[in-house]
Amino acid sequence: MTAAQGVLLRPITMGLLLQSLFLLLLLLLGSCLHPATAFPKGCYPSEEEGLKTFRCSNAQLTEVPRDIPNDTNKLYLDFNQIPFLPRDAFRDLPLLLELDLSHNAIARIETGAFQSLAEHLHSLDLSSNRLVSVSKDAFSNLKAKVNLSNNPWLCDCRLQELIRAVELVAESSGGIVCDSSTQEEHVGKAFLQVIADADLCNVYKKTTDIAMLVTMFGWFAMVISYLVYYVRQNQEDARRHLEYLKSLPSKQRRSEESSTISTVV
Ligand SMILES: *[C@@H]1O[C@H](CO)[C@@H](O)[C@H](O)[C@H]1NC(C)=O
Ligand SMILES: *[C@@H]1O[C@H](CO)[C@@H](O)[C@H](O)[C@H]1NC(C)=O
Repeated sequence: MTAAQGVLLRPITMGLLLQSLFLLLLLLLGSCLHPATAFPKGCYPSEEEGLKTFRCSNAQLTEVPRDIPNDTNKLYLDFNQIPFLPRDAFRDLPLLLELDLSHNAIARIETGAFQSLAEHLHSLDLSSNRLVSVSKDAFSNLKAKVNLSNNPWLCDCRLQELIRAVELVAESSGGIVCDSSTQEEHVGKAFLQVIADADLCNVYKKTTDIAMLVTMFGWFAMVISYLVYYVRQNQEDARRHLEYLKSLPSKQRRSEESSTISTVV
């Protein structure tokens, strides 16, 4: 290589260097900007049976991710560690039809968690979570069929109200089993069977009804026994009075007799 050739080549290598530097910069910029538009970690979109599906199954999520595409029809968040659903957890998903939250650690659902889904959601899977007690208000206006199986339910009036307020997924009702209950004998039983036999919201009313009945019966018994006592007492009095009256005329007669005798004498 001559000196002249070297002088000629230098600008070319410089140009190449600049070009590759520019490309590197673009790449760096790209990877910096990318996360803003990327999907949450462990999530990916797909098209299933013509429905826009977004899968975040088994993604070690500990909360409902943000940045879910707003045209999603089916959302899978199953097999994660989500412990809690806050108010409006699923806003900006106006086309959502199916929501799978099964196999998480959900123990608490805030009122209004599903409120923006109320009109359009078809199916909601909350099975295999840690639900013990949920207010029916958390599901207000929700038209979706709900799977509530395999949760450690506390069987009480609150659960009865919830079950009567939601539509259960067909054949999932047997999976709602009492883990604890206000009444010992319900533990381990299917909740629908329990409320077929007993109204858990009327237990209190029933006991007050019984108390009322007992009190009324007590009063009634007191009144009756007083009446009986009164009548007996009066009978005694009346009898004595009668005897007295019976004895009177004879005394009078006797006294009259004695007086006539005395006058005769
Ligand atoms: C999703 O969001 C974009 C941008 O905000 C908006 O233009 C679009 O209408 C939204 N789509 C739906 C289905 O709401
Ligand atoms: C409801 O959830 C239980 C427990 O995860 C599951 O076995 C069952 O198949 C579900 N039922 C329906 C109809 O999805």
